[in-house]
Amino acid sequence: MTRRFDFLVLGSGIAGLSFALNVAPHGRVAIITKKNRAESNTNYAQGGIAAVTSKEDSFELHVRDTLEAGAGLCKEDVVRTIVQEGPARIAELIELGMRFSEREVPGPNGARELDLGKEGGHSRRRILHAKDVTGREIERALLAAIASRANIEIFEDHFAIDLITSHKLGQEGSNRCLGVYVLERKSGLVETFAAPVVFLATGGCGKVYLYTTNPDIATGDGVAMAYRAGTAVANMEFIQFHPTCLYHPKAKSFLISEAVRGEGGVLKTSDGVPFMDKYHSLKSLAPRDIVARAIDSEMKRSGADYVLLDITHKPAPFLIERFPNIYRTCLTFGIDITKEPIPVVPAAHYQCGGVMTDVDGSTEITGLYAVGEVACTGLHGANRLASNSLLEALVCAHRAAIRATETPLPPLRIEIPPWQSGKANNADELVVVSHNWDEIRRLMWDYVGIVRTNKRLERARKRIANLLEEIQEYYWDFIVTSDLLELRNIATVADLIVASALQRPESRGLHYNLDYPQPDPEWANRDTILRKPIRT
Ligand code: FAD
Ligand code: SIN
Repeated sequence: MTRRFDFLVLGSGIAGLSFALNVAPHGRVAIITKKNRAESNTNYAQGGIAAVTSKEDSFELHVRDTLEAGAGLCKEDVVRTIVQEGPARIAELIELGMRFSEREVPGPNGARELDLGKEGGHSRRRILHAKDVTGREIERALLAAIASRANIEIFEDHFAIDLITSHKLGQEGSNRCLGVYVLERKSGLVETFAAPVVFLATGGCGKVYLYTTNPDIATGDGVAMAYRAGTAVANMEFIQFHPTCLYHPKAKSFLISEAVRGEGGVLKTSDGVPFMDKYHSLKSLAPRDIVARAIDSEMKRSGADYVLLDITHKPAPFLIERFPNIYRTCLTFGIDITKEPIPVVPAAHYQCGGVMTDVDGSTEITGLYAVGEVACTGLHGANRLASNSLLEALVCAHRAAIRATETPLPPLRIEIPPWQSGKANNADELVVVSHNWDEIRRLMWDYVGIVRTNKRLERARKRIANLLEEIQEYYWDFIVTSDLLELRNIATVADLIVASALQRPESRGLHYNLDYPQPDPEWANRDTILRKPIRT
């Protein structure tokens, strides 16, 4: 049986939920999400949302900071649109029930205003936040709003396997998205969902790397699905490593927000010496690519397993009030951030490239939109400015909703065949899935990390090609499980990252290759674009 809707939304982070709310007045919406509805990168966002809301700030300054971080690869028209539309989208989010942190305006009448944080690369305080749990508050507010919309249905524990397109079904003409095959994780059954508009909002791919700030959902499923469906994927070499992930044997992926450095936190070597003045005039608040490389270089130089982030000079009550989640979590690992520096290491954090779209989220496939971390609009260029991703997701989801509802597509009645699965289900072979999973993540960390070389990239390319072949054989023989689907997706995305990195013969922003240590002016403004070869 095919389930039919007017809009299919894949993913329930900020991009998917915002789009669903915007299109709900125009038809029936299904949100398909692979775990519980709040589980997403959005839910873990700490620092906040960058937007121009203060008199000391301007659109021009936010645009300039974004372009500077992006190292010559941002699309300026896209940057301007997103920056300028930010404040209106923030106002709507507040209207919907989002509670940002406020502060008292100095003066006699006790007035309050939005509290603005600062992060690396920003020339002004402009980050709206909910203490250090901004993402959790966004998910709460959006999901509460969705709960009151009768025509939005959320399908939890539903894993989107592959997009269904007219080309895949052998139709001539322009490629049109028709729906998606979805694994219901509890029953193991694969269902067909169909709609004239499919909105891809599946987030990023941090789990492609061994160490990441991302939760387990971030396996690059959307990029892999879109690539398999034949649309262009751009700039996948630009993987952002966050400089400060908590280093502790028992801590899994816990971020120490850049806002800690925004409030005065100083990076020091493991024996307590500040080092960022050697690397950039903004010291600990330099753009992320520079800070992550500086830490990597200090760790390699000293052989230490971590560096330190020290904010102990700030009053304890301020730290506990401003960073309650970081304070509490570190304390559970025996670290009191008010009294001692925090051991930190860089970890994979954000995918700057993705499915190539315009600023309205349109892809090369008719009816398929992509927004949020899964997409590459040109906002981030070669390095994302901190806290610009939540902003991008809000603005582009809104624009995509307008585009999709103002230009409805004519109905296309094509019979969609049911999913065909392999038959074998041999539990002994499950070890292959976990072994390959570990191998990909480790080799990406070792060979395709913060500092790259041609030799390491080539080595990674060959190993991933072998793994892909093995996974492909396995895939068609066996009944699909979410583990196998995620393995196939991380292998595809790893392959795309390596292929993109090999295509760019220069160092720019987050892509740093020792064989070409400088940017090449020939490559300024050039995206690395990959499309799946069409088999004839
Ligand atoms: P996500 O929020 O990741 O949502 C993706 C959704 O898709 C999830 O619901 C997931 O379950 C679902 N999904 C994935 N694959 C499938 C599939 N195959 N089938 C069905 N469902 C699927 N950015 C900022 O701007 N400011 C910050 O302060 C900030 N802090 C961050 C802190 C952390 C720890 C992390 C990890 C990221 C942070 N970021 C921050 C980045 C930002 O949170 C993300 O880029 C943004 O939330 C992405 O939103 P999204 O809606 O595109 O995807
Ligand atoms: C952080 O709080 O440091 C994360 C901000 C971001 O990734 O934009």
